[in-house]
Amino acid sequence: MERKHQSILITGGAGFIGSHLTRLFVNKYPDTQIVNLDKLTYAGNLKNLKDIDQRPNYHFEKGDICDGELLKKLFAKYKFDGVLHCAAESHVDRSISDPLAFVKTNVLGTATLLNAAKENWQNNFEGKLFYHISTDEVYGSLGNTGYFTENTPYDPRSPYSASKASSDHFVRAYHHTYGLPTIISNCSNNYGPYHFPEKLIPLCINNIIHNKPLPIYGEGLNIRDWLFVEDHVKAIDLIFHNGKTGETYNIGGHNEWKNIDIIRELCKQMDKKLGRHPGTSEKLITYVKDRAGHDLRYAIDATKLSKELGWKPSVQFEEGLAKTIDWYLNNEEWLENVTSGAYMKYYEEMYGGDYV
Ligand code: NAD
Ligand code: DAU
Repeated sequence: MERKHQSILITGGAGFIGSHLTRLFVNKYPDTQIVNLDKLTYAGNLKNLKDIDQRPNYHFEKGDICDGELLKKLFAKYKFDGVLHCAAESHVDRSISDPLAFVKTNVLGTATLLNAAKENWQNNFEGKLFYHISTDEVYGSLGNTGYFTENTPYDPRSPYSASKASSDHFVRAYHHTYGLPTIISNCSNNYGPYHFPEKLIPLCINNIIHNKPLPIYGEGLNIRDWLFVEDHVKAIDLIFHNGKTGETYNIGGHNEWKNIDIIRELCKQMDKKLGRHPGTSEKLITYVKDRAGHDLRYAIDATKLSKELGWKPSVQFEEGLAKTIDWYLNNEEWLENVTSGAYMKYYEEMYGGDYV
């Protein structure tokens, strides 16, 4: 039977996936109160939500998921009966240069939020749900064959994936120890509008627009399984309302691409859209030093989700990529805002001064 909720806390709603999730829930459930708690780190941007921020069922609270006192107040104020936990430090490269920031938000923050839910729901868990949004990276790295299923043993290999794996373990521990109703979903790489341009696809879109080098780590042979972000949040909606508590669901696009191939496809589409001669943007491709501990391949087996709940991705990759490029070309002001100031410093430190 479909679960119903009156008041939902979404954490990290001003980020990439969180903003799509918040938009979907605010629009689809006008009678449900949706509260977005976000610290507004470099990755959080309220402009991502400007089309829905005046809706009567939407509320924003600025704050940190590590702040237990604040969480207590928010649970008392809004009487949440559901939590969609999306807030995290999310970029693997940043986890390599500053691992403890990932331990703090992803591990301590998740544990603090779990504890707030347990305490405030006072062990009366009827009608409540804590939904944790996680990643396929917890399963480690695949060789050229095979897929991650929900039973694949955890084998995180970067500080980011180790912190996410740890947060997943805390979620399961709260379920088994205290009976907290929880669900975890582990998703593959997302792409789409509002993606912060530190990640491969939006970074390269931005660089193609500005005729800057496209930094490809190693030989560009690493493989990721890409899913359009709107398909991810639709899957979360379906699982949140119909999934079994205590369970994990894998979400993936069945859409594997080598990094170099994805960037070639991006260059081809952008040359057309920008009226450039075919082959112009490909000349920007530049092979750079590999990411430390770079996982070779991720690929999700989403059979459980499709069999149990009938989910499948709806957006083909070439179409999703075209939509994504169009969004960035039509939202240059958004792109300029997020790539000024602190972003330039990050970019110089990450990719070297010659490169900017
Ligand atoms: P993002 O970096 O774009 O957004 C993260 C959001 O969390 C930002 O709005 C930020 O301000 C907020 N935040 C960070 N620390 C906070 C704190 N201490 N308290 C409150 N808010 C805080 O991330 P994303 O790419 O949208 O990822 C969202 C979630 O989905 C993460 O949990 C990530 O692990 C998971 N995920 C991401 C992908 C992907 O491809 N991007 C794939 C699978 C799973
Ligand atoms: O698999 C899900 C994960 O996907 C999420 O949990 C993470 O939050 C999300 O950031 C993403 O992680 P990746 O490391 O796979 O994404 P990223 O866009 O950083 O890199 C994609 C691939 O491209 C990866 O193999 C590294 C490579 N890359 C990345 C950047 C930023 C480059 O070759 N050059 C680059 O400049």
